[in-house]
Amino acid sequence: DRTKVLICGGGNGAHCLAGLSASNPENETHVLTLFADEAERWTKVLQSNDLTVTIVKNDGGSEEIKSKPTLITKNPKEAVTGAEIIFLIVPAFAHEQYFREISPFIGDNTLIVGLPGQAGFEFQCLHMLGEKAKHCTIMSTESLPWACRILEFGRLVQILGFKETLGASKLQGSISNLKQSPFESVQKVLGPKPVLREIQNYIAVNLMAKSIIHPPLMYGKWSAFNEAAPLKEKPLFYQGVDEKQASLLSSVSNECIAIGKAIEKQIPGIDMSEVIHILDWFLTYYADQITDKSNLMTTMQTNKAYDGLLHPMKQVDGGQFVPDFSYRYTAEDVPFGLVVLKGIGQLAGVDTPVMDEIITWAQGKLNQEYLVGSELSGKDLPKTRAPQRFGFKTLQQLFDV
Ligand code: NAI
Repeated sequence: DRTKVLICGGGNGAHCLAGLSASNPENETHVLTLFADEAERWTKVLQSNDLTVTIVKNDGGSEEIKSKPTLITKNPKEAVTGAEIIFLIVPAFAHEQYFREISPFIGDNTLIVGLPGQAGFEFQCLHMLGEKAKHCTIMSTESLPWACRILEFGRLVQILGFKETLGASKLQGSISNLKQSPFESVQKVLGPKPVLREIQNYIAVNLMAKSIIHPPLMYGKWSAFNEAAPLKEKPLFYQGVDEKQASLLSSVSNECIAIGKAIEKQIPGIDMSEVIHILDWFLTYYADQITDKSNLMTTMQTNKAYDGLLHPMKQVDGGQFVPDFSYRYTAEDVPFGLVVLKGIGQLAGVDTPVMDEIITWAQGKLNQEYLVGSELSGKDLPKTRAPQRFGFKTLQQLFDV
């Protein structure tokens, strides 16, 4: 009696998870990818190849895991029927489409996992599943378990590093009844590393979302930029961080911590101790990779995991570069990141002037309206995952789901 695992997505993370899950004979692994012709292409590749996951070891060597998922399809009914664990492993903007397509076929006692969920995952999942959510358990993780990238579509994916531990929360529907602890079930699919760590409540995982990193760095770098004076080269994203950018990120992180503390005061029994400052997070998760740990700026400048990463830029006439605000650092990490955290802050009665300043700037670049002054009442709020968009009106309601 194999565990029926469904993986939604067709990118780097989905390739890794499909390979790891299918290499365990106790799982029957299906993949659903709705994007373009990915399902056809991937199916074709696997007719004459295995799916290989290459794991780069610390000593420079590597290990290969070969396997074949049972089914790769774009047909939701075929993919979902009978699934016991469903992983969504795509950028946050694609979650809505997956929820829409899979929900008619989700059965009772299904475990739905956002890997990672990103801010607002649970709000959207509850909303789109409706009554069905009562029969399901929703989990989300704070990040992806690995740094990974596809080397050859469908056939070869590389894991550059595993996280040691990964925080995850669960939200159990009122009549959901799983055979096994959701943490054990997900751990079995992932394998031994990273070790899942239970976070007490899902709002803490939202406040830990790593989508807070990019928007302050974008704002700090580009708010005074003159489009009429394009650059000759793409600047380094992390190695080039300056004091102003680091200070903005630090302030946003402090606002998340303040929101957590305010919630602890208002809702009895809630523990937000996992919502830590971004500097402490870098020092914990990238301990071996950072050469200068003096402060947040030097920590980002000297983190090997970030070597060579550049600002998202687009080319203009004459071959020079201007920033590309349609890239996910702003287009995704604001509506599916900062705006959600701002919304939680608003329900908790916490002022977030630095988030507000960044959102106000970013919405101009995105040609959207989320904030009006310091209130989330803009006309484009329905395109975000702020709790207000799903009808949450009080802080208590976030904990009554
Ligand atoms: P990815 O960039 O590989 O995702 C691309 C995939 O998303 C495509 O192959 C397609 O299946 C889907 N997609 C793209 N555009 C779409 C559209 N318009 N409509 C529907 N589907 C579309 O993503 P990756 O690298 O797997 O990351 C997944 C999540 O994990 C993201 O939230 C990312 O920020 C996060 N993450 C990734 C890390 C990595 O090392 N790859 C590290 C840490 C976090």
